[in-house]
Amino acid sequence: MPVTRIVVNFEDAPSYDVRVGPGAIDGLGSRVVKCIPSATAALVVTDTNVAPLYAATVRESLKAAGLRTVEIAVPAGEASKSIAVLSEVWSAMVAQKLDRDCVVVALGGGVVGDLAGFAAATYMRGVHLVQVPTTLLAMVDSSVGGKTGIDLDAGKNLVGAFKQPAYVCADTTTLATLDEREWTCGCAEVAKSSVIGSDDFFFWLCENASALAQRLDGVVSEAITRSVVFKADVVAADPHERGGLRAGLNYGHTLGHAIEKLAGFGTYSHGAAVAEGMRFAARLGAAVAGTPIDLVDEQDALLDALGLPALDFSADEEAVLEAMRSDKKNRSGDIRFVLPEDVGTWRLEAVDDATLREHLGAWRRSKE
Ligand SMILES: NC(=O)c1ccc[n+]([C@@H]2O[C@H](COP(=O)([O-])OP(=O)(O)OC[C@H]3O[C@@H](n4cnc5c(N)ncnc54)[C@H](O)[C@@H]3O)[C@@H](O)[C@H]2O)c1
Repeated sequence: MPVTRIVVNFEDAPSYDVRVGPGAIDGLGSRVVKCIPSATAALVVTDTNVAPLYAATVRESLKAAGLRTVEIAVPAGEASKSIAVLSEVWSAMVAQKLDRDCVVVALGGGVVGDLAGFAAATYMRGVHLVQVPTTLLAMVDSSVGGKTGIDLDAGKNLVGAFKQPAYVCADTTTLATLDEREWTCGCAEVAKSSVIGSDDFFFWLCENASALAQRLDGVVSEAITRSVVFKADVVAADPHERGGLRAGLNYGHTLGHAIEKLAGFGTYSHGAAVAEGMRFAARLGAAVAGTPIDLVDEQDALLDALGLPALDFSADEEAVLEAMRSDKKNRSGDIRFVLPEDVGTWRLEAVDDATLREHLGAWRRSKE
């Protein structure tokens, strides 16, 4: 099966390639050197789960291309997106005498990508970054677009920077070792992109959802490619999240984040919570944004087929409202939702508390 090349283009910044498919990691080193001719050394940032699986292959490839290569493996999990672990990465870079001609290679899921990306954005005021995502979520979402950062005690992703990678290498063979929870987590982001993306993507995914859930090779590569093409277009149009176009990527996340918070982080995967948020947003959309009922039903069926059933969770309306308001995107005024007007078109709608109370009440009662 061929490796697909997608180019992320910017008006005022260098473009970069995303390669998707089985074996994309072969020749990683030579591609890194081609993209970043000045590179002399590479720091592979990975985590303790991914390191024993794929770090040796990546290191050997970088070394074979003539790069002095060192590695740091941080503990797996969200807790590594912290000031303490970031400081360890910076310290390792100093200890290894890395200078501005180094490249940080983020090998892992979104946690490693965000952490390593922020280290690359900040070390010596910025060094090169290459993303080698190994989770479905990281391949379809976090590795493309340049958002990097860490969490604070006060909230997730509160400190960060935009740092576009020079190259993204998504080798689908690495997904073989991903567990089911992480797989469905990525599927939720694919579903999200398809609904707000286009008719063509959405109806293709509806037809191929079972095959994606079963991880059939061709369908996995196609789903990632379609997601990356969609995200690349959004990011190119709104690289720094200023024009509002990127807001669409938050479809399902308003209620999703509140569910994660109220249920306790980790109780449900991020993807399971986002899928529930998409179900809610589509129903809210049917009431206030003209979302067709057919779309509500088709989206339900799609999420079911992807292994993302409706959650057996609800909470008191006031608690949900408070949790939504604590989200950094909703600090002032009415809570804003991405609502699909139809497949491929959406709007950002500020929904007043009274309307939200009514719909959150219906959502809670549907779980009784
Ligand atoms: N920057 C962005 O635009 C953006 C977008 C979405 C999410 N994110 C961030 O991404 C993070 C979540 O990313 P994630 O879902 O990839 O989680 P993650 O990085 O924690 O990875 C999930 C788990 O899978 C393991 N793993 C990774 N690759 C594996 C493989 N191939 N085989 C076996 N195990 C593997 C990891 O060690 C970890 O235990 C969050 O911190 C979120 O804020 C960032």
